[in-house]
Amino acid sequence: MPRPSLLITRRIPSSVLSRLEAVCDIDLYTGESAIPRDELLRRVHGKTALMCLLTDAIDAELLDAAGPGLQIVANIAVGYNNVDVPAANARGVIVTNTPDVLTEAVADFTWALILALTRRVSEGERVVRSGTWKGWALDFMLGTDLRGKQLGLVGMGRIARAVAARAPAFGMRVAFSDSGDFTVPGAERLSFDQLLTTSDVVSLHVPLVDETRHLIDKRALARMKRSAYLINTARGPVVDEAALAWALEQHLIAGAALDVYEQEPKVHPTLLALENVLLVPHLGSATTETRTAMADLAASNVLAVLAGQAPLTRVTS
Ligand code: GLV
Repeated sequence: MPRPSLLITRRIPSSVLSRLEAVCDIDLYTGESAIPRDELLRRVHGKTALMCLLTDAIDAELLDAAGPGLQIVANIAVGYNNVDVPAANARGVIVTNTPDVLTEAVADFTWALILALTRRVSEGERVVRSGTWKGWALDFMLGTDLRGKQLGLVGMGRIARAVAARAPAFGMRVAFSDSGDFTVPGAERLSFDQLLTTSDVVSLHVPLVDETRHLIDKRALARMKRSAYLINTARGPVVDEAALAWALEQHLIAGAALDVYEQEPKVHPTLLALENVLLVPHLGSATTETRTAMADLAASNVLAVLAGQAPLTRVTS
């Protein structure tokens, strides 16, 4: 029997690669940025398995280019808006993601952004590096206390709950809005509009689906407190970037921190020029331990499916 063939669209830790090499013939893309579309379409042809990233669009065209031998698309990310799951399932292809292993890292990073934004860490760093700092002053670069304020979580899945669990350490009360019907101890459920109008920090933790695309638009931003901060570690298109740039320019809200963008790696040019927005390059899960665990989980899914077993973390819609 020929060995199964696996396309991996980006370098992964060598410990994970060796687990796969024991079973599959591997075609590894080693470029520094996302594999170009035409190369992806060419190299996926005839493969049994695909390990891909959120930067790769896995749609009907790609699945057809792979051909009928493809058994699994293992996305190395918890979000899988880059994969057309119904198109994959219609072709008998299993789709998996990497939940749980990144929850704590993303929750930590969300707090890193909340703290950095409200205490103006990167603005301050820019001043020091530019050599324009004049020295300590009582009223210089004042931020905002978090203690006693409300953290509003939009979406209350695994990551939002881990973010909420850290809130007592900073003296914040937690509110959330979510389309699901459940309660969360220690957190108050509010409507989306109530959450926007009452929260001091609004943090987004929803997947990107039709209903959440541009959830934060001009109207939503106008409902927020003028003193409020917006944090996005979810997916870029959940926020209408042009509307956010407008709201920040008009000081309709106090500030924003973005880890994700509508057209990564592009950033709306107005945002780049503003001081009241903190911009980081999609680093939510970016620790060595977490990224290794994500690749390892994707590999386990591939190996399970190739062995005729159920994967650990299948997604079906
Ligand atoms: C990263 O954004 C992920 O979805 O894992």
